[in-house]
Amino acid sequence: MTDEEYTAGDVREGIPFVGAGPGDPGLLTVTGKELLESADLVVHAGSLVNSDLLEAYCDHAELVNSVGKDLAELIPLMTEAYHEGREVVRLHSGDPAIYGAALEQMDALESEGVPTYFVPGVTASFAASATLGTQLTLNEVSNHVAFTRPQGKTLSEDEDHISDFVGMGDVTTCIYLGTHAVGETMDRLLEDGHDSDTPVAVVYHASWPDEDVIMGTIGTIADEVEEAGYRASALVLIGEAVTAAGYERSYLYGEWANRGSNESEETEEGCSD
Ligand SMILES: C[S@@+](CC[C@H](N)C(=O)[O-])C[C@H]1O[C@@H](n2cnc3c(N)ncnc32)[C@H](O)[C@@H]1O
Repeated sequence: MTDEEYTAGDVREGIPFVGAGPGDPGLLTVTGKELLESADLVVHAGSLVNSDLLEAYCDHAELVNSVGKDLAELIPLMTEAYHEGREVVRLHSGDPAIYGAALEQMDALESEGVPTYFVPGVTASFAASATLGTQLTLNEVSNHVAFTRPQGKTLSEDEDHISDFVGMGDVTTCIYLGTHAVGETMDRLLEDGHDSDTPVAVVYHASWPDEDVIMGTIGTIADEVEEAGYRASALVLIGEAVTAAGYERSYLYGEWANRGSNESEETEEGCSD
């Protein structure tokens, strides 16, 4: 199949809320790229979206940085442009469904008679796991993934579940919006009695040209991050899976990796990609 033969989904009415992906313009979806290329107005998430991506796909469009603008500014801007017949794209970083506050904008636009829809993107956790060369779920190591954030202005102490996820043992805990609070988060985990040797990775600007990885443990990572000087734009991953070690082969790839069994299960239970 050539590029010309491929059509990335139906053209839909309304304003798409597009996930820009984690940074690398190559990680934007085909649909997202096509929408940006035909956009007249792109409202984007400022420095969280790589300017290379904006230059590559939307240099023809009017660009508006949403940072510092409230709904009272953004909604009329997008509504008027849409009713004037302009192609409008709302561009969020990563995937709009993860810490994106997309829905409140979509609801406000819908109430102004503007249809909206999601176009997913690659969330930062997936870029970070690729950078680390590991899986977020890993056979016999991690069966679950938690996308979470630390307590702060938005989340109360009671709503911070990082310690609960880490305590479950077989969870890879992916902390967004927590770069500035690595020290406090690790202190709380130590106070709660978690093993100080539990692996932690901090991935700064995953998939960007200045991407950086700091590997440590609950006991060591805070000093390392402070030394590096990162206060934002990093993902903190906690759990054994970040080391890409200690896993067991799955039952997926035939008898040699099948713990001696000839049975191949067709159920979803036995499934992995
Ligand atoms: C407002 S949230 C948006 C998350 C985004 N919707 C996503 O799906 O990745 C911003 C946080 O995501 C994380 N983040 C976003 N892009 C990142 C990247 N390329 N590398 C590491 N962390 C990133 C950081 O923790 C940052 O503070």
